[in-house]
Amino acid sequence: MEKIIIEGGYRLQGRVKISGAKNAALPIMTACLLSDEKCVIRNTPDLVDVASLSAILGELGAGVERGEGGTVEIKVESEENSTAPYDMVRKMRASFCVLGPLLARRGRAKVSLPGGCVIGLRPIDLHLKGLRALGARIDVEGGYVLAEAPRLRGAKIYLGGPFGSSVTGTANVMMAATLAQGTTIIECAACEPEIEDLAHFLNKMGAKISRLGTPRLIIEGVDSLHGADYEIIPDRIEAATYIIAAAITQGDVTIESARLEHLAAVVDKLSEIGVVVTGEDKSLKVIAPAKFSSTDLVTLPYPGIPTDLQAQFTALLSLADGISVVTEKIFPDRFMHIAELNRLGANIRKEGPHAIITGASELSGAPVMASDLRASAALILAGLVARGKTIVNRVYHLDRGYERIEEKLSSLGAQISRIEDERGSSEEVIYT
Ligand code: EPU
Repeated sequence: MEKIIIEGGYRLQGRVKISGAKNAALPIMTACLLSDEKCVIRNTPDLVDVASLSAILGELGAGVERGEGGTVEIKVESEENSTAPYDMVRKMRASFCVLGPLLARRGRAKVSLPGGCVIGLRPIDLHLKGLRALGARIDVEGGYVLAEAPRLRGAKIYLGGPFGSSVTGTANVMMAATLAQGTTIIECAACEPEIEDLAHFLNKMGAKISRLGTPRLIIEGVDSLHGADYEIIPDRIEAATYIIAAAITQGDVTIESARLEHLAAVVDKLSEIGVVVTGEDKSLKVIAPAKFSSTDLVTLPYPGIPTDLQAQFTALLSLADGISVVTEKIFPDRFMHIAELNRLGANIRKEGPHAIITGASELSGAPVMASDLRASAALILAGLVARGKTIVNRVYHLDRGYERIEEKLSSLGAQISRIEDERGSSEEVIYT
């Protein structure tokens, strides 16, 4: 098993280019099951999650070819097998997004339940509620969702849950509704830019979705969809992670291919603590102060501060001047990184869905264990500034969501490398 070693204390400087958005690429790839024509997806990040989903699409009869510069071509060759097996789905929850397209196009699907993960409970009741409202017959049996519908029918669907909208739930129901008979209205739809991007892709395939990016999506069903050529938006979570990397090292970094409009809440919160982010023409400049102040923040559905940045903000605030309170409103148990950040000298206490952070004057390097993708990023950020050497174990999480992270950070002046664990650990990989 691999680990990452960071020698902390180097100020980041230079330019870094952001990759395509993972959470847009994954549902967009599943949308290719809605047509038998070839789709070309550009700016697809080279990530383990993209490779895992490619394997699932292959299992479901699609040819997936990765070309130069992030181009992925997908064409369904056979529609015979509509079963997504447990061993594949458990590796990556986003693969549950094959359910809506399979059901809408093939009239049937058997998709493994994804199960929970280290960031907390991850139910799928809203996905099933939406698909049932479209007329699907759904049974859950032997750990699988069995769905059937000769032709889906448009419906009015409220998709809000106890924690607000559901990102992949909206994706599943929206994709299914594109081929339904009649009009579907989804209320309390997720407004995340990745869902808007998926809707743009579906419209390029011939779908009729309006009010994109709003909580009220209107989808007029069509009889069939065709192939499309589409470029994915930049990854706002990756962009913000590099902004925080610049801030935590008091660096001077330009972030290329990022969209400021997707980061309004993040930039606003950073300006509150003294970190200035300015942007023009898809590139952002970060100017970090020598010392930043504490703040309180709450994660919320878009356009609020994303839960996928909670761990990275927690790492940053562990060095702020004063006490900060971070409240997690999407996944109230997503705090596995706290104990590891404390091993690096942070002073963080968890109280229910809150992390109470007393800013430390410095962090010091130590071996730590990554628990999920964003927790790994937080540990890397802390390692960049910790005195001495930080060793991050279980780095396979990082490869699921950050393209070439050591290379990108090294190019900015970080002292970071990856090594194979000499003990050749046979530890089981734990997925989120
Ligand atoms: N929820 C329900 N019922 C459902 C679905 C969700 O109650 O049927 C609840 C969840 O338990 C959670 C909230 O609704 O409290 C939001 O969950 P959501 O369904 O939006 O999460 P997701 O679609 O499973 C996506 C991202 C996650 C990101 C969340 C929240 C993808 C592939 N994954 O997950 O990304 O944290 O939205 O923004 O888009 C990551 O990239 O590291 C990651 C975990």
